[in-house]
Amino acid sequence: MMETKSTMANRNIMGSEVVEGFTCKPKKLEPNKPIMHYKTLIYVCEDERCKGAAKCDKAVELREIVKELDLHMGKNRIKISRNLCQGACRFRQVMQINENTQANGCEKNNGIWLKHTHKYSKDDYKKLFLALSNDEDLSDFKQIDMRVYE
Ligand code: FES
Repeated sequence: MMETKSTMANRNIMGSEVVEGFTCKPKKLEPNKPIMHYKTLIYVCEDERCKGAAKCDKAVELREIVKELDLHMGKNRIKISRNLCQGACRFRQVMQINENTQANGCEKNNGIWLKHTHKYSKDDYKKLFLALSNDEDLSDFKQIDMRVYE
């Protein structure tokens, strides 16, 4: 049977039917179902000091931008997740970039920490997400230096 738009609306991004009132909570638990592929996982710090700088629910805002760019699915999918204090509050709002190196081999942008991201405009975020999806250099974006381990 062909799915209509209204029946598809009750499914999450993985295609599972969802509990009414939720966008992602599946009706049927499948404990061994794999997680959705992502190319890039971005952790946005939403602990007290970073969130205070952003003054909004940044993860929600960023997910909308990712959707606009059609990067919420597919081989270049960008996943936005929240995390708590990373001990880098002086650089707030902090975002960590993690490439799925097992799946795509891209190491270049893996492990980069971006600073002052609450100052980004919507166009800045779009530029960042497109650069990530194309494995481009991120030197236009201010990064947090990490001390070399001695
Ligand atoms: S609150 Fe974000 S790094 Fe500390």
